[in-house]
Amino acid sequence: MLSKIGRNDPCWCGSGRKYKTCHQAFDEKIQRFREQGHVVPGHNIIKTPADIAGIKESAKINVAVLDYVGEHIKAGMSTEEIDRMVYEKTTAMGGIPAPLNYEGFPKSVCTSINNEVCHGIPSEDIILKEGDIINVDCSTILNGYYSDSSRMYMIGEVSPEKKRLVQVARECLDKGLEAVKPWGFLGDMGQAVHDHAYANGYTIVREIGGHGIGKDFHEEPWVGYNSKAGTEMLLVPGLVFTIEPMVNMGEVGIYIDDENNWTVYTEDGLPSAQWEIQVLVTEDGAEVLSW
Ligand code: MF3
Ligand code: CO
Repeated sequence: MLSKIGRNDPCWCGSGRKYKTCHQAFDEKIQRFREQGHVVPGHNIIKTPADIAGIKESAKINVAVLDYVGEHIKAGMSTEEIDRMVYEKTTAMGGIPAPLNYEGFPKSVCTSINNEVCHGIPSEDIILKEGDIINVDCSTILNGYYSDSSRMYMIGEVSPEKKRLVQVARECLDKGLEAVKPWGFLGDMGQAVHDHAYANGYTIVREIGGHGIGKDFHEEPWVGYNSKAGTEMLLVPGLVFTIEPMVNMGEVGIYIDDENNWTVYTEDGLPSAQWEIQVLVTEDGAEVLSW
C-alpha cells in the first residue's frame, strides 16, 4: 500500500488532518513490516473512526438480538421460532439480518445443534430438546455496516461432557482475545486459540474460520486457528475481524449436507461448539464490538 498521498494532503482516514500529522508514520511502519516479508493489511480493510462508529451501532442490534434469544430460548421451541425472533428484533431496531438471502441462505440466522458445526438452517421441524447445545449465529447490517457474533445456549440440563465443551470453546475466545495486540500478528491469536482447545483434548475445524468484517460481511483477512504465533497478517489499530473457532469434542473432520448445501456436521457425529466475537484492534490492545 505504498501511499501516493502527499504529506500535506488530507489523510485517507477522514480525520481532516494533513497526512503527515495523521497516518503517514503509521503507513511507514506498516511498510517496514511488508519489507520484512510480512502480510500487511491494506487501507481498504483498516477502519476509520467513522466506520468504527457505524459498526458499533450495528453491533448494538446484534448484541440485543442475542440477548433476546437468550431470554426466550427453551426446550420445545423450533429453530424456526428462533429465526422469527431474530428477524423481528433485528428489523424492529432498524437493522437487516445479514444471513437472509446471503449467497442463497434462506433464513435470518444460523442455528446449529449438537453435532452440527455451523450454518444450520432454522426449520419448523427442528425442535429443541432438553440436553441440546445450540449455536445461534447472528449478523446484522445497519447503514451498510456489518456486525457478527454467536453464542452457545444450553437447553435445560446438559451432560457434563457437553458443558465442558461449551465452556472450553468460550475460554478459547478469551485466550485468543488476550493475544490480539497492535503490531502483533493474527497467528498469535490463532495459536493461542488452538493450543487451549487441544490442551483440553478437543480439535478445531480447519476449513472454516473467521473473517475481517465491517463494510462487508466477509472481508480479509481469513482467520484460522491452525497458524503459528508471529505469522499471518500484521495486526494494526483499526483492523476488525471475528474470532469464531469451531471446537469439536472428537475428530477434526467435517462434511457439508449434500441436500441443503449449507449445514456442516462433524464426521464422527460428536458435538461441536462455537462462540464468536467481533474484535477491533486498538492502540493498546483490542475491543470487543459484538459478542
Ligand atoms: N455468521 C456466519 C459467519 O460467522 C456467516 C454465515 S453465512 C450464512 O461468518 F449465510 F450462513 F449466514
Ligand atoms: Co462470522
